Parts: sequence; structure tokens; C-alpha cells
Amino acid sequence: MLQFGKNRRAGAIMILAVVGCAAAWSQSVQAEGDAVAGKKRYQMTCLGCHGDDRMAPTTGPSLVNIMGRKAGSAASGVISRATAESGIVWDEQNLDQFLASPSEKIHGTIMPIGVRNPKERVDLIAYLKTLKK
Ligand code: HEC
Repeated sequence: MLQFGKNRRAGAIMILAVVGCAAAWSQSVQAEGDAVAGKKRYQMTCLGCHGDDRMAPTTGPSLVNIMGRKAGSAASGVISRATAESGIVWDEQNLDQFLASPSEKIHGTIMPIGVRNPKERVDLIAYLKTLKK
């Protein structure tokens, strides 16, 4: 009986350890973002409007060098006055807010779609960081 009790306790500790590791792992994914998954998402959802410089100028502004850039200051693409006058300088936090709901972040923006899933946004932002020249 005693032996059995011990094993059960050991089993419970193992389960807790596994759950703990899984939680830590998913948190680190959340914090860092997966640029590979972000690229796939970008190609499916964003590339049609935002060329990544392999394509001719597209509808939306180029997102190359987006990090640290003033909103609405891209050299090419359609940009609204609302975005150009928003005073935003893009960083991880305000990009996340903008992508979650563009028109809530910049009232009057002409960017038509948002990304509801927070994990997808983190991944997309990780990919956007790689778009540099
Ligand atoms: C249907 C076309 C379209 C799609 C799809 C689209 N965008 Fe946009 N996006 C735009 C337009 C147009 C603007 C310019 C908005 C403005 O000036 O108000 C914009 C603006 C932006 C900006 C701000 C650019 C700047 O220079 O300030 C970011 C960042 C952005 N989009 C990211 C994305 C991401 C990431 C996706 C995919 C999840 C995406 N967009 C999908 C059309 C689109």
C-alpha cells in the first residue's frame, strides 16, 4: 500500500513537471514569435496588398523596414492621411494593437483587415522584423 502511494505521488509530480515545462515552452513562443509561421501567415494574408519587394509596387505600403518607422511614411503604396498623421512610430506593442484591430488603433485607416488570433500576430511581427534592407 505504502509503495503504491509513493508511486502515485511520483506520478503526480511527473505530470506537474511535464505541465510546467509545456507552460514555460508556450510562454517563450508567445514572447518571441515564430518568424517562419509568421512568413506563412504573411504570404496567405498580407502579401496580396503588401509586396515584400520581390513584387512590383502593390496597393498597401511596403512593410520593409517597418520596425521603428513612422506610420504612413513608406515611399510607395496607398497611405491614408489618418495613418500619416497618427504620430505612431511602429514597435512591437503598437503593431500588435494595430493588427488586432486597425481601425480601432488608427481611426480612419484604410487597412481593411485585422488578425484576431494573438499568437498569429506575435508570429507576424516576428516575421515583419526580418523585413529589413
Ligand atoms: C486588402 C489590402 C490589405 C491587406 C490584405 C493587408 N493590408 Fe496592411 N495596409 C493596407 C493599406 C491600404 C494600408 C495603408 C493604411 C493607411 O494608410 O491608413 C496598410 C497599412 C499597414 C501597416 C502600416 C504601414 C505603415 O507604413 O505605416 C501595417 C504594419 C500593415 N498594413 C500590416 C499588414 C499585415 C501584417 C497584413 C496581413 C495580416 C496586412 N497589412 C494586410 C492594405 C492591406
